[in-house]
Amino acid sequence: MMNQVSTCANIIREKSPEFYPQIGLILGSGLGTFASQVKVTSEISFSELPGFPQAGVGGHEGKLLLGFIGKTKVAVLQGRSHYYEEGKADTMAIAIKTLKEIGCQSLVLTNAAGSIESSSKPGDIMLITDHINMTGVSPLFGSRGNDRFVDMCGAYDEDLSNKMRVAADKNGIELKEGVYAWWSGPQFETPAEIRALKVLGADAVGMSTVPEVIVARHAKIPLCALSVLTNYAAGISNTPLSHEQTIIVAKLAEKAITDMLNSYLNSFSDDKN
Ligand code: HPA
Repeated sequence: MMNQVSTCANIIREKSPEFYPQIGLILGSGLGTFASQVKVTSEISFSELPGFPQAGVGGHEGKLLLGFIGKTKVAVLQGRSHYYEEGKADTMAIAIKTLKEIGCQSLVLTNAAGSIESSSKPGDIMLITDHINMTGVSPLFGSRGNDRFVDMCGAYDEDLSNKMRVAADKNGIELKEGVYAWWSGPQFETPAEIRALKVLGADAVGMSTVPEVIVARHAKIPLCALSVLTNYAAGISNTPLSHEQTIIVAKLAEKAITDMLNSYLNSFSDDKN
């Protein structure tokens, strides 16, 4: 795998010499147009990067953008792949390790999720503070060495999360906080499953992000993560669940999340000035 990571990093460096992004972002369903805010210096299709996810689900673009938000250098993965596509939990591992290899010191992960908490409504944004892995699988299956026994405490970095709280505040956005449960999908949950998740302590449920957090933790890249709550989870409201609804509601929250990410990313260049 490390060979493929070096290959990808070399391809990226050839296209964009001397550009070392500070922060990597992974954009979830319906959130791709945050990318239009980036002053792009280069754009590379995932299809040119061996081991990067090939675009699978609607709402995903499948490209890597390098560029600036303000003075902050970013690398944006516009689109991701999911465990449910091919039953591989490590499907984002090469992409994430490549982000580290090209310079990223931290990550921001975003996703769409169903809300299990009736006080968090569709359109709200939730800072993920912890997760529950409901799938029983790991992207680290098959890896060797003692460092595979990763400590998952503090996986959602407190300092980065605090910066996100400040960014939300700056933009007058009421940022919810909670625990994200990873559901394998692609089917949505049953109402009984959602009741069970609530008892277990989950506030939101979705089909991504957690394997990426595990990979990043293993690779020692700190991160913070946001869910756009696109619907009440199964059984909580009468609205039928669909991927189309996910995309539509994620789009509605896009301005808020874009403003917040802009402030968040700009705060990294403020640090240095
Ligand atoms: N469940 C799982 N994944 C999701 C949901 C949901 O309700 N909404 C958006 N992604």
